[in-house]
Amino acid sequence: MENQLIAEIQKLKKEKNAIILAHYYVNDELQALADYVGDSFYLAKVAKGTDADVVVFCGVSFMGESAKMLNPEKTVLMPDLTADCPMAHMAQVAKIKELRERYEDLAVVCYINSTAELKSYSDVCVTSSNAVNIVRKLPNQNIFFIPDVNLGRFVAEQVPEKNVILNDGYCPIHKEISAAGVQAQKEKYPNALVMAHPECEESVLKLADYIGSTADMIAFAKKSEGKEFIVCTEEGVNYRLRADNPDKKFYFGGEYLCRDMKLNTLEKVLHVLKTGENEMTLPADVCERAVKPLDRMLELAK
Ligand code: 13P
Ligand code: SF4
Repeated sequence: MENQLIAEIQKLKKEKNAIILAHYYVNDELQALADYVGDSFYLAKVAKGTDADVVVFCGVSFMGESAKMLNPEKTVLMPDLTADCPMAHMAQVAKIKELRERYEDLAVVCYINSTAELKSYSDVCVTSSNAVNIVRKLPNQNIFFIPDVNLGRFVAEQVPEKNVILNDGYCPIHKEISAAGVQAQKEKYPNALVMAHPECEESVLKLADYIGSTADMIAFAKKSEGKEFIVCTEEGVNYRLRADNPDKKFYFGGEYLCRDMKLNTLEKVLHVLKTGENEMTLPADVCERAVKPLDRMLELAK
């Protein structure tokens, strides 16, 4: 059954000159199927550079929106249009406006995990793999970091020369990972190194030997001489970690699943390729404003 689905998808992909992008948090079979698998920064770059006519994005809506904005003449199809990141909505335009009044030189730095509307009020986007470097490069002294409080705090610690104002958004999945849980894992596996995504809470990040984006953690585990790792992020990354490192062990302290990422399935990929349904669309004016901070990110990250 699965093989038949995959064969049909491959055939339609060729006919429609389509590519499939997948984030490391989607189901294993989609990571195996995709033409490109990566973290949000890598996927944004692929979306910008592709010459395919159709992009099927196995991820959540902010990723599809970014792909559409960066390449508006392409068709971007979402296997499930309801797959959304709750954190993407956790900032207020009114607060941005208020802080712009208060600080003349304010730069609004917007984590890519945000709605197109929030991006359209921002100066530059960042992802978890480039946030520190980009904030460091900005000429502005005062930074309002939206929406994620944890990535914002992590950036503020790495760039102490700036005044980073934090927002109160968070990822519900990374919030479930507790310092007590990680501590218990450390006691159980005393030789294991702790890798954590910067969306984890401060108390968890304090226990980490390495902090980085999904792609950064995957690269770290591959390069490291360590043989055991406690992984503090969504468990979809386990697919790549296991594939790259058959001789290493990876421990997740619990079932950390992003329900929205998991809404993507092989059946839904086939359905959108067949029907052209679930096309990502955005109002032209929002698109025009929101693409500017995304383009600035790609420029500053070079
Ligand atoms: P990455 O940019 O590390 O892939 O993270 C995306 C994300 O949604 C983390 O929760
Ligand atoms: Fe959003 Fe968290 Fe899911 Fe990432 S893991 S898409 S931040 S809800």
